[in-house]
Amino acid sequence: MSAKLETIGITKSYGETVALQPSDLIVQAGEFLTLLGPSGSGKTTLLQMISGLVAPTAGRIEIAGRDVTHMEPGKRGIGMVFQSYALFPHMSVWDNVAYGLRMRRTSREDVKRAVNDALAMVRMSDYAKRYPKELSGGQQQRIALARCFVYRPSVILLDEPLGALDKKLREHMQAEIRRLHKELGATFVYVTHDQDEALTLSDRICLMNQARIEQVGTPVDLYDRPATRFAAGFIGHSNLLEGALDHARGPSGEAILLTAGGRVPLPVPHAGAAAPGAKHCLLVRPEAPRLVEPKSGFLDGTISDIVFIGSDTRVQLTLGDGSHLSVRCERGLSPCVGDTVGLVWDPHRTTLLRA
Ligand SMILES: Nc1ncnc2c1ncn2[C@@H]1O[C@H](COP(=O)(O)OP(=O)(O)OP(=O)(O)O)[C@@H](O)[C@H]1O
Ligand SMILES: [Mg+2]
Repeated sequence: MSAKLETIGITKSYGETVALQPSDLIVQAGEFLTLLGPSGSGKTTLLQMISGLVAPTAGRIEIAGRDVTHMEPGKRGIGMVFQSYALFPHMSVWDNVAYGLRMRRTSREDVKRAVNDALAMVRMSDYAKRYPKELSGGQQQRIALARCFVYRPSVILLDEPLGALDKKLREHMQAEIRRLHKELGATFVYVTHDQDEALTLSDRICLMNQARIEQVGTPVDLYDRPATRFAAGFIGHSNLLEGALDHARGPSGEAILLTAGGRVPLPVPHAGAAAPGAKHCLLVRPEAPRLVEPKSGFLDGTISDIVFIGSDTRVQLTLGDGSHLSVRCERGLSPCVGDTVGLVWDPHRTTLLRA
């Protein structure tokens, strides 16, 4: 069971502090959407307004087409999981999961069935009699998930649920959360400041920055077509080439950016209505360029570092103005530090960013 979620101009201020500027967001029924952004960007504020734990200053929230802005949290059909598992220490795993249902005066039979299902789903059926302190961090987080799923909510909000786990366990739990999302079929809104986690888990990512939504899109959209410098810098490794628009066009009529390393073609025929001389910024991902002989590419640089990162090798080039560019180097090529090399790429694999 899943529900569509929508925020319309939702806003939060604490006195002078704006925790969230007016924000419009639609999460489709059954979708996995991640709120990604640096600390203080408003992720938790947005999530807690959806949950009903924080009252908005202005704006509206709809779940399955119903206005829930002023509805109390327990009636919204929402489940929440936090970074701190907040399990009851004096209750067994079973009782922790059953607690909320018992409070709702669910029948004994229904509680039993629902708790068994929830524990099976997080693969913790054998641990029902244990107490939280007898569980590892990952196991405790599974119980926190089970405690949320036991109600079969149609919308599940997760605020950095894996934040307390080490890297290995985190990656394992990411796979588990993906599986659980598929099995439950609920709408998931997930908060993280870890871009890899967001790219791995999400159908779409809502990138947040300074109390507002910066860009919403699929992981591929955000990686290949970031709308702003912030988006380009936050997701994936990015090289930003700064320069001014040249008066002259390239051989095929393409616009040209004059950078410290050389004349670089732009992926668009006209750089908007910008006049020649206007400053622009071009995003070149490390995997776009190919190393060629000096003076035969778009720009030249000197190799200042070579780093083996397992799957491939990263070559760092220093350009004329001292700026750096990181380039993925195919296996088999053996460049040396100090070599001067040229770079070419398909201009359509680069993105012109708003100044
Ligand atoms: N109760 C509050 N009173 C005053 N200011 C608050 C309150 N809660 C949040 N803020 C402010 O609102 C802004 C957004 O906070 P929020 O907790 O939403 O950030 P976040 O993106 O979740 O960050 P983090 O990644 O650190 O959890 C911050 O500047 C924060 O200081
Ligand atoms: Mg937060």
